[in-house]
Amino acid sequence: MSILILYGSETGTAQDIAESLRREAQMRHLAARVFELDEYDIGQLFTENVVLFVVSTTGQGEMPPNMRKTWKLLLRKSLGSEFLKNVNTAVLGLGDSSYQKYNFAGKKLYRRLAQMGANMMCGVSLADDQHEIGIDGAFIPWKQRVWEEIQRLGIYESMTEEIDPKVKIQTKYRFVEAGNPDHRKNVVAESDTGYHALKVNSNRRVTSENHFQDTRLVNFEIPYELQSQMKYSPGDVLMVRPYNPDETVQVAIEALGYSDEIMNKPVRIVKNDPYSKQPPYFLVGVETTLRTCLQRYFDLQQIPKRSFFEMLSYYSNDASEKERLRELASPEGLDDLLDYANRCRRTTAETFRDFPATSKHLEPDYLFEILTVIRPRAFSIASAPSANFVELLVAKVEYKSRMADKRRGLCSTFISRLKEGDEVFCKIRAGTFKFPLPEAPVICIGPGTGVAPFRSLFGQRSRLSPHSSGLLFFGCRGEHDDFYFSDEWNSMSGVEVIAAFSRDSEKKVYVQHKMGERARDIKKMLESGASVFIAGSSGDMPKAVSSVLSQIQGDEWTKKAEETGRIQYETWS
Ligand SMILES: Cc1cc2nc3c(=O)[nH]c(=O)nc-3n(C[C@H](O)[C@H](O)[C@H](O)COP(=O)(O)OP(=O)(O)OC[C@H]3O[C@@H](n4cnc5c(N)ncnc54)[C@H](O)[C@@H]3O)c2cc1C
Ligand SMILES: Cc1cc2nc3c(=O)[nH]c(=O)nc-3n(C[C@H](O)[C@H](O)[C@H](O)COP(=O)(O)O)c2cc1C
Repeated sequence: MSILILYGSETGTAQDIAESLRREAQMRHLAARVFELDEYDIGQLFTENVVLFVVSTTGQGEMPPNMRKTWKLLLRKSLGSEFLKNVNTAVLGLGDSSYQKYNFAGKKLYRRLAQMGANMMCGVSLADDQHEIGIDGAFIPWKQRVWEEIQRLGIYESMTEEIDPKVKIQTKYRFVEAGNPDHRKNVVAESDTGYHALKVNSNRRVTSENHFQDTRLVNFEIPYELQSQMKYSPGDVLMVRPYNPDETVQVAIEALGYSDEIMNKPVRIVKNDPYSKQPPYFLVGVETTLRTCLQRYFDLQQIPKRSFFEMLSYYSNDASEKERLRELASPEGLDDLLDYANRCRRTTAETFRDFPATSKHLEPDYLFEILTVIRPRAFSIASAPSANFVELLVAKVEYKSRMADKRRGLCSTFISRLKEGDEVFCKIRAGTFKFPLPEAPVICIGPGTGVAPFRSLFGQRSRLSPHSSGLLFFGCRGEHDDFYFSDEWNSMSGVEVIAAFSRDSEKKVYVQHKMGERARDIKKMLESGASVFIAGSSGDMPKAVSSVLSQIQGDEWTKKAEETGRIQYETWS
């Protein structure tokens, strides 16, 4: 008898959590099966005893792609209020409170399961990327409660109250020498999730050389054979799969002490757990090397989570390091963990370096349990629809912390370093902005890289409906520093660009100030049916913009417009 763990995930975090639950169940002598929701036969759900759901929210409050089919089935009226009456269940939602529709997927799923009569072992738990320790802030207390509740059910006799550190964990995958016959056919197709390698045509810096911020306009070629699959519209995003930077890989390799022979030996990745998903063969290759996996697959730059310390202590043979790792993984060690890892933004590779006796003895297979997989990042498409290319406007994330080396964002650094001819795995996903017909009036607010979707939109409108009316409020530091596309706007029809420069005068001027100055025009456009679109940083800007709209149209109007989609947001942290 086993428990069932189902996940819905867009970028892999829910999958990581689901797999760590499986591992922890194993250490409590409890068998567990893990499936992505759309791979499980949901018609059988009523036959399960215990089902744990881990579900992220994507888009603007949407269900992740790998559970949409199941979600439709779960909404069928024929599944009455007794359908799940024998099922004990719990829901962990993953989200980010900087989004307006915070954790909508988890909340909706919880409500629906309760409607179908499931026994909810605890209330829905909402994990937040913005929490000081990220999703662990909600995940750790939730799982503690869930294990207690499962224990209380008394269904699983072998289950232990505490984790048994002596249990030998079977890793999810193992490396085997290439050519070994225990490998399945057609694995490439099976692990393909719609990503394609696109070649870089150009990568141009668009901020002035002496400006602190390095922002890039990157142009990717869409080859002829992919043109029908990679069509896009304004508002769509490109998901990009970055690799670890060479210097980070080097830190990890030195800490792990793997020889060149181990690093470069041709290997294959084979599933140990029949229920787990195939690793992304399109990314690492069917025949691969440990070096390729450390570069493309394992996230070496992430701030290590508590589960990382748990697993490292589990595998450690060094008494003093094991003890320290245990402390960092313990609930009492939270402040210590924050200080050691989160506040200074230490990377996983650097953490390996700090525990040399442990790291030097880690078998490569253990990495599948210790490390998480690199998440793809979303970027608003910045080019007007084209069959041949797609463009992104990417600001490189770089900042200082207590650590000696500069901290760098994984994907934006990866993109900033791309050279002509390099290949990057990308996927187009439907945008969250729902733009009106090209002739309808629009008011867009896009400071910084938030302007990207509006370059796409106005580029298209200029072609399709040059007499349409559009206002674009753009904000940046200085006219000659980071005024993106300043040389393009004049050649586009149907858009008036109003720029706010925050550092060009003594008084800091932001988009909301410029909107205030143009309140009368905004009112007129809104009265003629204009919709409002806001994109960019999720900091103070969206609230400030919303408050100007409230001043112009009133709170009631603004609230209703947000609810009905007349005001839409695409913001990120
Ligand atoms: C729908 C959508 C569209 C997007 N469009 C664009 C776009 O068009 N252009 C664009 O550039 N980005 C865009 N982004 C953001 C993009 O996806 C990435 O989040 C961004 O590039 C950073 O990713 P990274 O891998 O470089 O950084 P990561 O390695 O993920 O690190 C980012 C983290 O670093 C931390 N951090 C950043 N700066 C600091 C600091 N000064 N001090 C302390 N901590 C800090 C923050 O916690 C942040 O979460 C978009 C995001 C979404 C969701
Ligand atoms: C493109 C995109 C859209 C998102 N939309 C929302 C949202 O509407 N509401 C929310 O609470 N979180 C949102 N998030 C945050 C994710 O839910 C959160 O990062 C989660 O941990 C990701 O889990 P996953 O990797 O399993 O998909 C979004 C993240 C991305 C990348």
